[in-house]
Amino acid sequence: MITPKERISALWRAVRPGSPAHKHGRQEGFARLRNLLLESGIQAPVIVETGTLRNELVTFADGDGWSTVFFRKLVDELGGELYSVDIDPAAIAASRKVITREFGDLANTFHHAGDSVGFLRDFPKSIDVLYLDSMNYTGDDSSARHQLAEIQACVDKVAPHGLIMVDDISETIEHGKAALSIPFLKNRGWTDLELIPVAARRQKRWYQAIIRRPRG
Ligand SMILES: C[S@@+](CC[C@H](N)C(=O)[O-])C[C@H]1O[C@@H](n2cnc3c(N)ncnc32)[C@H](O)[C@@H]1O
Repeated sequence: MITPKERISALWRAVRPGSPAHKHGRQEGFARLRNLLLESGIQAPVIVETGTLRNELVTFADGDGWSTVFFRKLVDELGGELYSVDIDPAAIAASRKVITREFGDLANTFHHAGDSVGFLRDFPKSIDVLYLDSMNYTGDDSSARHQLAEIQACVDKVAPHGLIMVDDISETIEHGKAALSIPFLKNRGWTDLELIPVAARRQKRWYQAIIRRPRG
């Protein structure tokens, strides 16, 4: 049984930038994203993530990343709003529970249960940060096709200074969740791409990527 104190302390170790406790290293990617946002001077960002925090166990902070916690910290720091979509109502419930438990409210955090592509297509605001982490990579191209559909649904809503971050990129790029979306963005002139190492598994290295919308 994990005590509340142990839970908070594990959460802190997991999400603190630079923490060696974060086995999959996503906090390096999240810290880099935060720095890019600060450098660009964006105030009160609109942040949209697909694939919410799906399990309240702190081990998922390591394994999945608990991106929703990171983004909530960011909107508490900078102002703005966080929108988090997931097709699984149980994941939405877990995410709402953890955010309420850790931050006390859902004031600037809006959850939506449903398919991410439709959500993004209907999203009414300009997006400053788009984090794409819906579905799991299972070896076929279904998650890559889904991520491409997500990007196609909302690429024109990403603000001129905006950032897209994607998770689960294989070192061979043609595999993983971003296999189709990164080439799509590059073809549109989005060449400002940064890869951040995340994990080593199945004898491959895996990355997150941050790609910035070109100005002009
Ligand atoms: C890898 S998990 C997200 C992890 C989370 N970003 C984190 O850092 O903890 C992927 C999530 O995508 C969700 N998902 C799968 N298909 C989806 C779809 N079509 N639309 C939205 N979410 C979907 C799953 O329910 C699952 O909760």
